[in-house]
Amino acid sequence: MNETLERWGTRRAFILAVTGAAVGLGNIWRFPYITGENGGAVFLLLYVAFVLLLGLPMMMAEILVGRAGRRSPMQSIGHLAAQAGASRHWRWLGLFGAFTVFCILSFYSVVSGWSIEFLVASINGDFVGRSAAEIGAGFDAFLADPRRLTFNHTLFLVMTILVVAAGVTKGLEKLNNLLMPMLYALLLVLAGYAATTEGFGPALSWLFLPDVSAVTPLVMLQAMGHAFFTLAVGACALMAYGAYMPDHQSLPRAAAAVAVLDVAVALLAGIAIFSVVFAQGMDPGEGPGLMFVTLPVAFAELPGGPLWLSLFFLLLLLATWTSSINLAEPMVATLQGWGLSRGLASAAVGISVWGLGMLSVLSFSTLAETRVLFGMNPFELVSTIPPEIFLPLGGLLIAVFAAWVMPEQEALRALDAGPNGFRFWRALLRWVSIPLTLVVLGAGLI
Ligand code: TRP
Repeated sequence: MNETLERWGTRRAFILAVTGAAVGLGNIWRFPYITGENGGAVFLLLYVAFVLLLGLPMMMAEILVGRAGRRSPMQSIGHLAAQAGASRHWRWLGLFGAFTVFCILSFYSVVSGWSIEFLVASINGDFVGRSAAEIGAGFDAFLADPRRLTFNHTLFLVMTILVVAAGVTKGLEKLNNLLMPMLYALLLVLAGYAATTEGFGPALSWLFLPDVSAVTPLVMLQAMGHAFFTLAVGACALMAYGAYMPDHQSLPRAAAAVAVLDVAVALLAGIAIFSVVFAQGMDPGEGPGLMFVTLPVAFAELPGGPLWLSLFFLLLLLATWTSSINLAEPMVATLQGWGLSRGLASAAVGISVWGLGMLSVLSFSTLAETRVLFGMNPFELVSTIPPEIFLPLGGLLIAVFAAWVMPEQEALRALDAGPNGFRFWRALLRWVSIPLTLVVLGAGLI
């Protein structure tokens, strides 16, 4: 197995691929809207703290297990557990991860479909000369039309599955190499533009001056869940990528580079979006529609607005594409590990995710008032519980596995940071990340 598995072409390709997984709707759509709902700077502060204290060390743990195992997540974990003389049941963690990304990809694909719709609309100049109220009403009408949502959801999922079916080096690597640098350039332009608007000052104080009294266990749980979500950690998805990591590359350095790039994108997107919110006197707590309503409103009034807006949605679509490819990977790798061909595994994943995604599609019309669990409709449920509960739980178990269970020598080698680097990382995981995750999860659930 070791010899036959494909590897990422270069170290840079690995970092670009993991960044491609990390940067997506989480940074550009989810981060602004839940930050808006949770009071701004406090949420941002917690989220950055959780990225550093838990997300980063756990990201290393997850990639490390894949790198040491060089197999599909389930097989890597099972193999390393057997090597350490531990229970083979650890491998079910891989299946739990696949279930988590199954739920996440189902709504991810639906929301990514919204940006296809908005890309086409902005190229057509549909937003030109429209007021905020008109654009908001247009968005609501779009959500209430299951046929348009279904069309875009289907299109996006087909785009994803085609790349996944094409295989690792051919599909993912080339795509990432091509697209990621473009994404950063476009975001910088966008944030630079925001700095020239009168909403820029208020946006900065909203994002960076925390009111510490607003910290509650629930806000902490959401910020923690978002740290996992945005780094793509906790569902064995990065583990699947770790299996393809080149032999000579420091894992901590690669992971830190990804985390910096990821947080930077969220901040740039946040600055751009909240500048618009404050310049237009809008409500930061608008919800999932925040980005989709604010940006067209702002750009509609600008010289060259439709062009900037089209670029923005193009960028968003590219970012979500590379993320959804990563979301599909653990499921495909698991089915492949069970003997299915890559093409067949991809098709099976595509069809089942499409089906579950239809419940999210209908959550904006027919099923809007259908409370499935905890008073939430299907979309609210899959976009809340898997990111906020399943990911921290999965990350926690992966961390315990990496720090306590798997053979120490294997972990040391796969981290590739020397004995001192290894001891520091493991101590951080054992005495900070794992207990902190337990406390936040426990407090949040109660
Ligand atoms: N991190 C991505 C985003 O921010 C979403 C994502 C990609 C993800 N792969 C993942 C989330 C794996 C959890 C697990 O949009």
